[in-house]
Amino acid sequence: MRVFEDPVAFRRALDRARAGGDRVGLVPTMGALHPGHRSLMARAAAECGHVAVSIFVNPLQFDRPEDLARYPRDLVADLGYCEALGVPTVFAPSAQAMFPAGAVTTVSVAGFGDRWEGRSRPGHFDGVATVVAKLFCLAGPCAAYFGEKDFQQLALVRRMAADLSMPVEIVACPTVRDPDGLALSSRNVLLSPREREAAPVLRRALDAGCAAVADGEDRPEAVASLMSGLIEAEPLARLGYAAAVDAADLAVPTSCSEPEALRLLVAAEIGPVRLIDNCAALRPSELAVGSRGRHDLPATAPAF
Ligand code: PAF
Repeated sequence: MRVFEDPVAFRRALDRARAGGDRVGLVPTMGALHPGHRSLMARAAAECGHVAVSIFVNPLQFDRPEDLARYPRDLVADLGYCEALGVPTVFAPSAQAMFPAGAVTTVSVAGFGDRWEGRSRPGHFDGVATVVAKLFCLAGPCAAYFGEKDFQQLALVRRMAADLSMPVEIVACPTVRDPDGLALSSRNVLLSPREREAAPVLRRALDAGCAAVADGEDRPEAVASLMSGLIEAEPLARLGYAAAVDAADLAVPTSCSEPEALRLLVAAEIGPVRLIDNCAALRPSELAVGSRGRHDLPATAPAF
């Protein structure tokens, strides 16, 4: 496995891989790797001759300095994780190498950055779009792999790549969950045992939202308020939002009459951690049973 800190050396290595005929798959991460990331790497390995994983805690996407400071970091463990999975190329630059003094250009995807997660995290999505655009410029990936767990991020990256004619396929990978339904996230380690017990309330709220749509609830506000109520009933959770939105542009539709195009989103703070989750509002015949949607993977699934 080759580990690059220097962006130019990383770019050249992937130029060579493509010149040699390999399809290059990029898995952008902020480290603290877990089975959710492993599923992205596995998908990339299945579809690409050469997989590159970037590990970079992007300061531009943290609106609160304390959140950046406490973001879990363990590069040695992350490199071991990649090596064990057979990843050939890792890019782990410093903040200075990625954003040298004088860099002022940012990417903003209008309409995506200021709603839902963006409302409580000003600048977050500009930071995501900017770093992802930069990673695409450096890696020149044929395909890039993103988890559905960060659905707003996925939608924004898709929009950016389409709008800027970026020659990269954006591949969405199912959310990986613990057996009790909690979506895997690097931030979950920051939950106390009691907070961890409370956290699956997000998944339960989504399940209730899906069931309501399946039962014929046609009003997005009613679905949202059902999900909000369940989260607000959990004493340790502070509701961020709950919404039923159009999966492509994340706007609230006038009705739930096209459930296949509908995405349910929830967010809450539990203890010091902001948790987000989402799921497709499947048609009744496709509705998942139990705590795991049919498009989701258990955390223990053999992946790589
Ligand atoms: O999802 C993440 O880990 C980050 O937002 C990403 C896409 C690596 C950009 O920093």
